[in-house]
Amino acid sequence: MSKAPHIVFETIGKTYAGAPAPALDEISFSVARGEMFGIIGRSGAGKSTLLRTINMLERPDTGRITIEGRDIGALDENGLVALRRRVGMIFQHFNLLSAKTVFENVALPLRVAGVPAQDIAPRVNEVLALVGLEGKAKVYPAKLSGGQKQRVGIARALVHHPEILLCDEATSALDPETTEQILALLRDIHRKIGLTVVLITHDMAVIREACDRVLVLDHGRIVEEGTVWDVFTEPRAEATIALLRPLRPSVPRSGPPRPTQSAPHSSATLQPETPRHVAASL
Ligand SMILES: Nc1ncnc2c1ncn2[C@@H]1O[C@H](COP(=O)(O)OP(=O)(O)OP(=O)(O)O)[C@@H](O)[C@H]1O
Ligand SMILES: [Mg+2]
Repeated sequence: MSKAPHIVFETIGKTYAGAPAPALDEISFSVARGEMFGIIGRSGAGKSTLLRTINMLERPDTGRITIEGRDIGALDENGLVALRRRVGMIFQHFNLLSAKTVFENVALPLRVAGVPAQDIAPRVNEVLALVGLEGKAKVYPAKLSGGQKQRVGIARALVHHPEILLCDEATSALDPETTEQILALLRDIHRKIGLTVVLITHDMAVIREACDRVLVLDHGRIVEEGTVWDVFTEPRAEATIALLRPLRPSVPRSGPPRPTQSAPHSSATLQPETPRHVAASL
């Protein structure tokens, strides 16, 4: 996998009108081509705002975002339309049209783009096969499970051959087993077509299963960034420690039995969250 930067954020800032504090504050980092990159943070930290700057659904007030070296803030109307075809997006609640069949939901972006009718069916069938939904083309969303609906969402996001896929809480409405299946599908697609994936989740297990690197946002600022292994085994920021707490059992899954007398520790230190504890839960 090439490690060339694909998406580069340079001192991105954004304050919503009337907001007392910036949603994004001096955000600088980059995502490598072909990487699965996670963004975590408490509710309101600015994750969705940050993700949506990648397809310019949110325009930063300051700073610059480049994709393959091109400043996407400088794109004109046509450039933005082209950008949004290169950047697919999937959502927590799938955003499917209930009155349209699976085929029509997936075909919609192609119809909007004016793709000739004879080219639409082969591409839609191809992406439906990619997500394992052959045979469901004529079904309406109401007849699908949550996992199948998200597969339709993924197929629709991929229909334009994007190079980047954005996932905003894409597995949050799914049960753990279905989440695992959707993650396996995303990993499979990522491997097959070399997509760069940027995903937001509140589920730390998803980051652990799916991502190469992770960035932690807190109050619109980056408080931690690194490989998932490094950040999860030795979290430094208070926000990261709080987010990882549910992932850490008080007793390691494996390893020697704990001593009967508890070791003294200060509540102000990271001591209860030792790297060995975290590593045991990985
Ligand atoms: N359209 C908007 N107008 C005004 N303020 C907004 C808007 N969208 C988000 N905000 C504010 O910006 C901040 C960041 O919001 P954002 O949705 O990016 O957070 P988030 O990390 O995605 O949260 P969550 O985990 O709850 O989805 C919050 O304070 C939010 O209230
Ligand atoms: Mg959000």
